[in-house]
Amino acid sequence: MNILIGPFSQILPMTGIPLKGTLQDEDLTVIEKGGIVVNDGRIVAVAPYKELLQQYPDCEVHFIDQPMVLLPGFIDCHTHICYDGNRSRDYAMRIAGKSYLEIARAGGGIWDSVTKTRVADTVTLVENTVARANRHLQEGVTTIEVKSGYGLNMESELKMLRAIQQAGLHTAATLIPTCLAAHMKPRDYTGTEDEYLQWALDELLPVLKQESLASRVDIFIEETAFSAAASTTYLQKAMQQGFAATVHADQFSAGGAEVAVNTGALSADHLEASTQKEIDLLARSSTVAVVLPGASLGLGMQYAPARKLLNAGACVAIASDWNPGSAPMGDLLIQAAVMSAAEKLSTAEVLAALTLRAAPALQLQDAGQLITGFVADLQAYPTADYRDILYYQGKMKPAMVWKKGEKVK
Ligand code: NIG
Ligand code: FE
Repeated sequence: MNILIGPFSQILPMTGIPLKGTLQDEDLTVIEKGGIVVNDGRIVAVAPYKELLQQYPDCEVHFIDQPMVLLPGFIDCHTHICYDGNRSRDYAMRIAGKSYLEIARAGGGIWDSVTKTRVADTVTLVENTVARANRHLQEGVTTIEVKSGYGLNMESELKMLRAIQQAGLHTAATLIPTCLAAHMKPRDYTGTEDEYLQWALDELLPVLKQESLASRVDIFIEETAFSAAASTTYLQKAMQQGFAATVHADQFSAGGAEVAVNTGALSADHLEASTQKEIDLLARSSTVAVVLPGASLGLGMQYAPARKLLNAGACVAIASDWNPGSAPMGDLLIQAAVMSAAEKLSTAEVLAALTLRAAPALQLQDAGQLITGFVADLQAYPTADYRDILYYQGKMKPAMVWKKGEKVK
């Protein structure tokens, strides 16, 4: 059954936009008084509402009687929403001026979330993940990448990835799992970093394959986590096993983005410490540069150089990094809007970074744009002017959200 939804004051289909480089708002196609026809979870047509009424005379009409701007659902290509416990003690220490080391010594940091997540049962992790995914969905985020990485041993990494898989059955949002067993070398592991990574390659990844728990791996390349050399080997071997790769790169020191580009990772994420060298490498590659303003806000540090990345010609996506430590807020639109003011990103660049430019980071070929045949993941904001969305700095939320054509808000 064809369903016609509309009329919308404006539809931004996010089509005809290049994947890389700078964008101006004039690059956005805006369909005034538009409509969309959906059928069986897919988009059938996007055009002026009156034309669609004539073309699809037998369709069911879902009439929109208020000013509304329609966009594709957002894609959050980097989160850690499967965890238990919070880290407000870390946060309080950090805003009071304590250093990373002081916080770690007081029992904070990633290891604290590992400890709390290891003792959580699967049901709790599923519930936590579903609750966060549903909050995202209500805020227009229809596809969410979710990392493991608070387990860091066989039992707990599997528990996390199984919880993410189960959570996907209990939320309408699409969840895409990524194995982040290489988040840090766990404190209770007695071998070297190479041995730990080799354990993941030999023991953990084959099980993930067998149980279809993840087809992507991530690694945190940093002085306090894994070296560039060890990470390169890990990523290459994981890719040989058929895994796609993404990297936590250049968060505090540069080096990770180069590994991401050289190994052909889908994305290099963070980039707060990237220099012109990494910016140029990313711009010349097909690796998506994922910036994470939520982590900059949570840690009180500089934003990634999104403006420079776009000027150099990179594909820039924006993700939330929602996690208990560095990015507890988890509001993708507020983070993108706040960053756009600081980094001077155009509305077109921000909306593209949340939709079609985030899609390749997750190898999505039918999401992020309103195109015939694409999935009908949609959101509508209560305004007649799309510029209001960033103007209100993320405080204006979508009034309506559809996932695979079903109205979920
Ligand atoms: O993306 N950078 C490393 N990992 C996470 C933070 C995880 C944590 O602090 O729990 C990040 O910011
Ligand atoms: Fe992260």
